Amino acid sequence: MRRYFVTTFGCQMNAHDSERIKGTLESIGFGEASSREEADVLVFNTCTIREKPDQRFAAHMGDAKVLKQANPDAIVAVGGCYAEAQRERLFELYPFVDVAFGPGTIPHLADWIGADGQGVARGSFGIAEERSFSATLPLQRERRFQAWVQVSMGCNSKCAYCIVPSVRGREVSRRPGEILAEVSRLAGEGVREITLLGQNVNSWGRDLLPDVRTEFGELLRACDAVDGIERIRFTSPHPKDFRDPVIAAMAESAAVCEHIHLPLQSGSSRLLKAMRRTYDAERYLRLVDRLRAAIPDLALGTDVIVGFPGETEADFAETLRVVEAVRYDSAFTFIYSPRRGTEAADLPDQVPDGVKHERLERLVEVVQRIAAERNAERIGRVEEVLVEGSSRTDAALLRGRTRRNTTANFAGDARPGELVDVLVQGSTSMTLRGRQAALVAA
Ligand code: 5AD
Ligand code: SF4
Repeated sequence: MRRYFVTTFGCQMNAHDSERIKGTLESIGFGEASSREEADVLVFNTCTIREKPDQRFAAHMGDAKVLKQANPDAIVAVGGCYAEAQRERLFELYPFVDVAFGPGTIPHLADWIGADGQGVARGSFGIAEERSFSATLPLQRERRFQAWVQVSMGCNSKCAYCIVPSVRGREVSRRPGEILAEVSRLAGEGVREITLLGQNVNSWGRDLLPDVRTEFGELLRACDAVDGIERIRFTSPHPKDFRDPVIAAMAESAAVCEHIHLPLQSGSSRLLKAMRRTYDAERYLRLVDRLRAAIPDLALGTDVIVGFPGETEADFAETLRVVEAVRYDSAFTFIYSPRRGTEAADLPDQVPDGVKHERLERLVEVVQRIAAERNAERIGRVEEVLVEGSSRTDAALLRGRTRRNTTANFAGDARPGELVDVLVQGSTSMTLRGRQAALVAA
């Protein structure tokens, strides 16, 4: 049997696309290799959101080149966002690449790689008419009890720093019947937790109007009604699209978890405007108040960028102010990275590297202190945990996630896929520690 090996970079959408890539290769008779060395087809599913993933990919291409020299019959396929952004340049940079494809053209992968790799295409990208949902392809799921469900592709926002709209194209929503059929099928296979995925997940449905009259809140309610689905998450929402019906649906759907990843990007209203985020700091803070009023015990995560062009010390102080005011449970912090072709890459006043790094350090310190305090507040409480396996640091302990999306390591005898109550006894800025609390639950 011919074998494939897929290497994935980037976000959850990419991880999910890789499940489709694997499913597609399985459907044409390939099996998964346990290492790159044993593979006949090497697939790299790339990211280009910042410079760092580009550099990581370049390092992997060094390996691929060596493997291709040792085994000239191996097929090297490069897909995803970096491939889309670089297009034909990819073949100049890496002449040993056989197939290149954008995130919208995974459905064609079988044609290119099928027939024993004969007649392999040099490239196909799909930003416009050729683009289609990979969600209709066979799926090789990574996790047994949790699943991603793609609800839309592309993004209609124009955030000045972001490459995603240009590599993943305009937003197209999947039809609700199709999404619900997939969710029901997953529930039938034993999946208990789903994560709805979209580049701008809560603007889902708008492009279906007037044909289908629905919005993201209704999708949450419909997923909540599917038997067997105990937890619903979604990522990433845009603050601008958190309208009242979505908040009400979250509050009233038992399976929707008390956790929102709510990208802030900056706390400076001036910079938010330059970033074209379409909200200012006060509006964001009011949204946080509305969410917390409707959903008790809500956990909030976020993304923050430091060093956007023109960011002054006063702008950065505003970011720290908002982070302190919201008190996030978790936050991803990024140094602004200019991406070719985006609006911000051409702005004057790029912030020097040293300043960016120094601000990042100060931000991380605040974020970690608050996250540690937020987790410490959980000590003594009982939290429902979906068991995922054994702890990564201590094999004697189990590991899972709370509804508020914090990793918990705990003593107990539950099996993966079970929902158990855990008494929280300790915490760090990233994790909780505790023991299974069957008696507490009884
Ligand atoms: N530089 C730094 N961070 C970026 N992000 C997106 N584009 C850039 C960029 N050019 C961050 C944003 C986004 C997250 C996925 O990555 O915070 O929410
Ligand atoms: Fe990376 Fe963005 Fe593409 Fe995800 S959508 S893989 S984060 S560039």
